[in-house]
Amino acid sequence: MPILDERTLEFHSHSAEQTERLGVRLGELLQSGDLVCLAGDLGVGKTVFARGIARGWGSLDPVTSPTFVLINEYRRGDESRLSHVDAFRLGGPQEALSLGLRELLEDHGPVVVEWPERVAEALPRHRLWIHLQWVDESRRHLRMEAAGPRYERLLRAYRQAAFGG
Ligand SMILES: Nc1ncnc2c1ncn2[C@@H]1O[C@H](COP(=O)(O)OP(=O)(O)OP(=O)(O)O)[C@@H](O)[C@H]1O
Ligand SMILES: [Mg+2]
Repeated sequence: MPILDERTLEFHSHSAEQTERLGVRLGELLQSGDLVCLAGDLGVGKTVFARGIARGWGSLDPVTSPTFVLINEYRRGDESRLSHVDAFRLGGPQEALSLGLRELLEDHGPVVVEWPERVAEALPRHRLWIHLQWVDESRRHLRMEAAGPRYERLLRAYRQAAFGG
């Protein structure tokens, strides 16, 4: 696990199950207002990772790909909601804003966005950006980049929780 600097963490996942578990570790650390962007090609494992995030956060609802509904909301028995946005079918940043993307981030719960590149201009600069890349049939490379103090802290806590260092 090469540690490049304080703001970046890179590692490999060797299976879908491992990717989900790595998502769980992150979900356990998320707070209301946190933004996690999941970038990477079609079928690379963004939804698998998001499923782990939701489990770790404590979702009582099953995680499905929000490609057709654009935004899924998961509950966990308190007022907080985890929002799962798929920007693949959004027309662009303007549509993301009119769907209330900014409002979701304010006092609602954490927000996970698949295909964040599609709505980049609508996203706050401070966020955790995760880029997934295909290595082979079962392996993926993940690169996490923290922008902003909250996300640098989050990334440090994640490194500790997921890799013990
Ligand atoms: N190491 C791995 N991590 C994640 N998924 C993997 C891995 N190895 C194989 N897979 C498979 O890759 C697929 C990933 O699908 P998933 O729906 O998560 O992709 P996605 O990035 O969300 O795609 P889309 O762009 O369509 O939303 C699943 O079928 C999963 O089983
Ligand atoms: Mg997906």
